[in-house]
Amino acid sequence: MAAAAGGAAEKRRIMCVGLVCLDIISVVETFPAEDSDTRCLSQRWQRGGNASNSCTVLALLGAPCAFMGSLAPGPAADFITADFQRRGVDTAHVAWQPRGEVPCACCLVNAASGSRTIVLHDTKLPDVTARDFERVDLSQYRWIHFEARNAAEQGAMLERLERYNRAAAPERRVRVSVELEKPREELLPLMGRGQVVFISKDLARHFGYQSAPEALRGLRGRIQPGATLICAWAEEGADALGPDGQLVHSDAFPPETLVDTLGAGDTFNAAVIFALAEGGHRRGMAAAGPRLSLARPRFSLARPQHSHGSVWHCHGSVWHGRSSSLAPSAGRSLKDALTFGCRIAGRKCGIQGFDGIV
Ligand code: ADP
Ligand code: FRU
Repeated sequence: MAAAAGGAAEKRRIMCVGLVCLDIISVVETFPAEDSDTRCLSQRWQRGGNASNSCTVLALLGAPCAFMGSLAPGPAADFITADFQRRGVDTAHVAWQPRGEVPCACCLVNAASGSRTIVLHDTKLPDVTARDFERVDLSQYRWIHFEARNAAEQGAMLERLERYNRAAAPERRVRVSVELEKPREELLPLMGRGQVVFISKDLARHFGYQSAPEALRGLRGRIQPGATLICAWAEEGADALGPDGQLVHSDAFPPETLVDTLGAGDTFNAAVIFALAEGGHRRGMAAAGPRLSLARPRFSLARPQHSHGSVWHCHGSVWHGRSSSLAPSAGRSLKDALTFGCRIAGRKCGIQGFDGIV
């Protein structure tokens, strides 16, 4: 019985709720001076937005996933929906707005440093509402991640999830994470929701903290008991405060050359969610000895052969296994998940865009 429930659980998706926008990215050799007229090395359109980028990464990692956010018809939305489709991200719950424009960001990526400078035109396209969220069949999802944006509506969505989880059998519950990136006062109460809370270094700095561990210690009172608080800090890696109150850390995995850090945080979040959600679906890990080798990062994650389930190849002391058709158990340890997040995010920083992170 448990095995049957576990089998069904594996097919459940991970959903990310939040922003999708069009990123028009110019890769520059050096950062231009104001009021100058220069050429760039290359230019591309890319589907952007934190929740949307995290879906890209989840899809690349092999997790069945879905995006929920707003779009308005037009050429930008055509590009975006085609790209979601190309990646195999489900868009059934996109809220199509009859009026308005899709947000668009002009991004300068400095090829010499990897820095990204973003200027977003927030077109005030209405965000998804609790009413839109009512239409989501929660039994289809194993994890729902919220990029904090419209606090009141998202609060109501979280209430629905909390009610659902109270009534659901443990193996059918939906795990919930929340990302707070922008230091906006009205978003802060959302830190008290969800089992996993990601805070950005921008938010941490806004509160006056100079490092991730300092931020975690200072902000731990704002999360619900038993929740996990995670803070990534660029080249410093990432830290987390687990449900047991222990602080854990992963160093960063810097690539040989930093070329593009646009979406590094979204990549990190997705990889951590993937590791925590997927952790229990691996066979062979225990038999393979130590879980994830922290000392020798020699894992390789091959492209999925199916729409869900990843095929993991590990060598030496590193685990291996196939994630599909395995019953869920407790997630991978928090430290392993942080390490995985930093490793995948580090790879992302070494390439333009997302292709090549696995
Ligand atoms: P954001 O894109 O939200 O600003 P961060 O800068 O905090 O995100 O980075 C998220 C993760 O990406 C970090 O934890 C780290 O693993 C990786 N990362 C980002 N920048 C670098 C860097 N310069 N060197 C190595 N890793 C990096
Ligand atoms: C990267 C990103 C970009 C987007 C901007 C929105 O994290 O999601 O794709 O333009 O941030 O704030």
